[in-house]
Amino acid sequence: MSELSVNHLLGIKYLKESDIQLIFETADHFKEVINRSIKKVPSLRDITIANIFFENSTRTKLSFELAEKRLSADVLNFSASQSSVKKGETLIDTVNNILSMKVDMVVMRHPNPGAGIFLAKHVKASIINAGDGAHEHPTQALLDSYSIREKLGDVVGKNVVIVGDILHSRVALSNIFALKLQGANVKVCGPKTLMPKYIESLGVGVEMDLRRALEWCDVANMLRIQNERLDISYFPTTREYTQQFGVNKKLLDSLDKEIVIMHPGPINRGVEITSDVADSKQSIILNQVENGVAVRMAVIYLLASKIK
Ligand code: CP
Repeated sequence: MSELSVNHLLGIKYLKESDIQLIFETADHFKEVINRSIKKVPSLRDITIANIFFENSTRTKLSFELAEKRLSADVLNFSASQSSVKKGETLIDTVNNILSMKVDMVVMRHPNPGAGIFLAKHVKASIINAGDGAHEHPTQALLDSYSIREKLGDVVGKNVVIVGDILHSRVALSNIFALKLQGANVKVCGPKTLMPKYIESLGVGVEMDLRRALEWCDVANMLRIQNERLDISYFPTTREYTQQFGVNKKLLDSLDKEIVIMHPGPINRGVEITSDVADSKQSIILNQVENGVAVRMAVIYLLASKIK
């Protein structure tokens, strides 16, 4: 297959396994490009991309911008907090005004689940979801799987546990879809109050005991406690959360194998993982960030080739 089955990247849920493999093969090429002394290719000189962010971001925003620039696209950056959204302009009006400046593609982060799906139905541009509320974060899941593939050779058959706030996490949902599609075995681990009731219907196991989860897995993807999405208390105190679901070096070293530690960032150091775990040789957290640029270049390149 040489082209994606979709015209937008709204969620992993809408992708086929062959789409993921095509993205990874394309990302392999771009990873080689960005390690050259001249890190740029002229592929998208005729494409203009708007990055519109209605929520804070460090990694995703910078990674998309760098990916676009490495592909030689023209780039517009829009931050809702400094825009006419503050004067009451709607999402569709905002995006249609941006598109009337001859923009071809929109990368959007939005606090509302489904915002990208809504936009794709109402505007004429290719849409990439850069995280929509507690729904999906597809490029994060793609770069996570790409990093597992790079570290362990393959994703199929690997045991991956996702630990933490599964209920509010778009990273968890997109990772579950991506890992299952590629044939990995997936478990989730975290407080019962942060476990969605439908979780087992997604084909994942639930393990409430962190040590047992770590003994089972090849990879532990540690999620951040998202205080900004917790309207009520889901666990007694942060200290008790850390005691039950935090990974420290003593626990990591007590396992009879070397597991891979991942985290989408930003890290709450000392909450879900201690600094000596985050910075250990078992951690691939910064490799995930590095791979994010190549994976996003691949996604943008493949979607742009469908609108040319
Ligand atoms: N992983 C991630 O989405 O980080 P940012 O919120 O900094 O983009």
